[in-house]
Amino acid sequence: MTRTIVTFFSATGTTEMAAEALAKAGHAELYRIEPTERYTRLGI
Ligand SMILES: Cc1cc2nc3c(=O)[nH]c(=O)nc-3n(C[C@H](O)[C@H](O)[C@H](O)COP(=O)(O)O)c2cc1C
Repeated sequence: MTRTIVTFFSATGTTEMAAEALAKAGHAELYRIEPTERYTRLGI
């Protein structure tokens, strides 16, 4: 069985919403890419 994944990085949530829509449409698993270090200047 073929597995499809969608991976995304999102700081503001915009890309997260798009990734969720893509994953849903493609019946894909969704994985968030997390920075190893926070963007301290922006607090994210
Ligand atoms: C601190 C920071 C720096 C970024 N620098 C760049 C950059 O130099 N070039 C670029 O194409 N995208 C840059 N991005 C955008 C991200 O790669 C990514 O496309 C974006 O955060 C996703 O959109 P969203 O956070 O609005 O969901 C940066 C994002 C952050 C949070």
